[in-house]
Amino acid sequence: MDKHLLIIAHALSPNTQTLLKTINDASNKSQCIVTSLSAFDTTPERIIQADAVNLFTPENLSYISGAMKDMFDRCYYPLLEKKQGFPVAAIVRAEHDGTDTVHALPTLQLP
Ligand SMILES: Cc1cc2nc3c(=O)[nH]c(=O)nc-3n(C[C@H](O)[C@H](O)[C@H](O)COP(=O)(O)O)c2cc1C
Repeated sequence: MDKHLLIIAHALSPNTQTLLKTINDASNKSQCIVTSLSAFDTTPERIIQADAVNLFTPENLSYISGAMKDMFDRCYYPLLEKKQGFPVAAIVRAEHDGTDTVHALPTLQLP
């Protein structure tokens, strides 16, 4: 059975929109069923239905974007017991190097 990949993105600017389209197009060439949602539209139920998640966030103020933080605020506890060991990847778009955000991601207990 095909796996379901959920892309959760916050992409406001033209550059991040272009990058998100590239991520979607590349993912659609995989064997996965791919769904892409805005971080604001993402619910725990949508994540529970997925087999893997790809997070796409700009670095804002040395951290994940506010929209992505809002997603974690709403989804973290509802998923904590249900998605242990769940595959998660993250792509950070930054004006400088994104190091602070990349370093912060493990504190979100992503595998
Ligand atoms: C409020 C705000 C805070 C930002 N903070 C950072 C930052 O801490 N580090 C960084 O590298 N870029 C930062 N940026 C730049 C964004 O990461 C960048 O604009 C975003 O990745 C979109 O890329 P683009 O401007 O090329 O479309 C910030 C942008 C905004 C609007």
